[in-house]
Amino acid sequence: MADEYQTAVSGVRGRLPVLPRAALNPSVIAAEQAYRKRSGLPQLTDHDIAALKAGEPMAWERAAAGGAVAAPAAPAATSAVPAPSAPSAPPGTPAPSSAVPVAASIAAGAISPEVAKQVAAGKKWSKSSIAAEQARRKRNNLSPLNDDEITALLGEPAAAAPAPAATPAAASATSSAPRPAAATSVVTSSAAASVARTGASTRYVGTPAVGTSRAAAAGGIASIGPEDNEINRGRRQFVWSAVAAFLVAWFIAFFRFFLPRTLFEPATSFKIGYPSDYGLGVDTKFQQKYRIWVDRTPDRLFVIYARCTHLGCTPDWKPAENKFKCPCHGSGYDSEGVNFEGPAPRPMDRAHVEVAPDGQILVDVSKLYSWPKGQPSGFNDPGAFLPG
Ligand code: FES
Repeated sequence: MADEYQTAVSGVRGRLPVLPRAALNPSVIAAEQAYRKRSGLPQLTDHDIAALKAGEPMAWERAAAGGAVAAPAAPAATSAVPAPSAPSAPPGTPAPSSAVPVAASIAAGAISPEVAKQVAAGKKWSKSSIAAEQARRKRNNLSPLNDDEITALLGEPAAAAPAPAATPAAASATSSAPRPAAATSVVTSSAAASVARTGASTRYVGTPAVGTSRAAAAGGIASIGPEDNEINRGRRQFVWSAVAAFLVAWFIAFFRFFLPRTLFEPATSFKIGYPSDYGLGVDTKFQQKYRIWVDRTPDRLFVIYARCTHLGCTPDWKPAENKFKCPCHGSGYDSEGVNFEGPAPRPMDRAHVEVAPDGQILVDVSKLYSWPKGQPSGFNDPGAFLPG
């Protein structure tokens, strides 16, 4: 009779926790209603919901606990049945298992010591964890988990014994107890599953949906988190490594923002040797290093800054033609850098020159002398040339 009672009560109870039960919040109750609707179980009435919110037994649970298998919360099945001949088990009492205990399988050698240790730790494995373990064993050429080991890890009984025949009294009580018509088949299958489970498993009413763990915990429903296995540890390590790398990169970028951006450029003032080092004509030995040509005429020495006055290209010195030729748009300059063909608007600029205390020519390209079109020339200014 106790079994029948559990069958009836736990089946109609749906996924609600067994008594004694903490007060449930509305989200847990709403989830239960949705489950009942999906499963064809009778919906909770307003009185049931009020009792659940208050953490009290529902009316039919109270009636059942008083010794009779009362009708569940469905409006059409509220009448109680006469008290059964056998004493009724109180709600929440673990259903007696008809299966062979796991310990028996361990003793019989069907479960390896390694798995037995996991089972003894009391931790249940999910099916995905077992699949991962099987894959690991396959990779490592280990023997796969057998059915008994899988069953034990899942927390199920190792093997089910034949179900005992129902006593006439129990059968009578079961048949005479009114039940909701739509829920009868569901109650039977759900109750059978509940009876087949151990006491520990009946405390877990499914896995709460994502986002409802807190509400489920408030309602006394245990939340089953990710398994602490090798794969999940690897995943966690990967995620945390990625987060750490992102934070480090972000911090470096943030710190770099406060450092000055230094641009190293060649010196603008430099020495190019003595005046006597240069003969008449154009000397190109400093073209690559300083972008200048040293030009000597019969009466002066000056330095041409090698930049086309059209768009800034560096012209080439053509000794055979005795002229500078810009490769970009064809501007031509004579041997003193004065334009005479192409789009260049004016002669090339000349750099400041002076004689350093040691007698060398000191050039400063930061100070240029130019001859703008239609304006006076700056080529005769002091510093634009060295006499002789
Ligand atoms: S840049 Fe020299 S001709 Fe255009």
